[in-house]
Amino acid sequence: MAKEIKTVAVLTSGGDAPGMNAAIRAVVRKSLDNGLKVKGIKKGYNGLLNEEIIDMDRHSVSDIIQRGGTILGTARCLEFKTLEGQQKGAEICRKHGIDGIVVIGGDGSYRGAQKLSQQGINTIGIPGTIDLDIACSDYTIGFDTAINTAMQAIDKIRDTSSSHERCSVIEVMGRNAGYIALWCAIANGGDDLLLPEKYDYNEQRIIDNIIDNRKRGKTHHIVVNAEGIGHSTSMARRIEAATGIETRATILGYMQRGGSPTCKDRVYASMMGCYAADILAAGKTNRVVGYRNGQFVDYDIEEALNMTKSIDEYMYEISKIL
Ligand code: ADP
Ligand code: F6P
Repeated sequence: MAKEIKTVAVLTSGGDAPGMNAAIRAVVRKSLDNGLKVKGIKKGYNGLLNEEIIDMDRHSVSDIIQRGGTILGTARCLEFKTLEGQQKGAEICRKHGIDGIVVIGGDGSYRGAQKLSQQGINTIGIPGTIDLDIACSDYTIGFDTAINTAMQAIDKIRDTSSSHERCSVIEVMGRNAGYIALWCAIANGGDDLLLPEKYDYNEQRIIDNIIDNRKRGKTHHIVVNAEGIGHSTSMARRIEAATGIETRATILGYMQRGGSPTCKDRVYASMMGCYAADILAAGKTNRVVGYRNGQFVDYDIEEALNMTKSIDEYMYEISKIL
């Protein structure tokens, strides 16, 4: 029989992402609407182990839907990877009367949620990461804002790059995943694209491409480089030495993780937050919310973690052709 849920909590974990606040707001307000008590856990699993737990009402989440970051704060917590840490976390939940938790984060955070559910605390995960690297979901909270931020920044770099007839190596976020780079390469008309999933270490091809483009009269050349490949500054130096064309590197960095969420991130995060609140209230546990084929769905956490996702070959081909 499903456990009766009276009090739920919400936490954000791992890297922050624009739209997490919209998701927190949705979890809080939908849970209240479902007749439950709601608490917020600050700073991810760290805050749980340190009992940084606050009561939340409708007004606790006022004026946050438009704000980047996460009002609850986020952290990485090594202690929670240990059985002792997980048992302590579940004990603290019981002490505070918390029957279930919505965890907003990435794969690592789902592992934590899975462990907590094994300790008897109901858990539901929501995909919150700018990287889009959650296999069970076509959408992750923050990706849309991040690609729009990166796209606008690259447009600006392109202006000055053209004026000075320079080549630009632009590094976007994505340590293990190249989705931000792939989308920007298409949206910004990148001339070369380097993804962790596809990298062949063939820098000569980029150099030849730059020389060919210049011969054809192109005034700029944009190399979109994912963080997972990195080394943009030294790459720019080598390109300049080999081509004789002034080359600059720009690492966009954490600006991609901040800022006011786009409409899509606000709406999808709100939908996912409400969905998570509803399935938690219905007694479900060890599930993760996803967006697949135009619908919000949920999966068993283990099943979700075993899914794989790869770069869409057609999109990758298109990025090269255009
Ligand atoms: P993300 O959720 O963005 O993938 P991390 O991989 O850093 O980020 O994971 C966030 C946090 O989730 C970790 O700091 C840790 O507290 C918890 N976590 C990660 N892996 C596990 C695990 N195997 N068992 C328990 N908790 C985990
Ligand atoms: O949130 C995802 C991400 O931005 C990755 O693209 C990046 O590699 C990582 O987080 C960096 O996180 P941090 O420097 O905060 O550990």
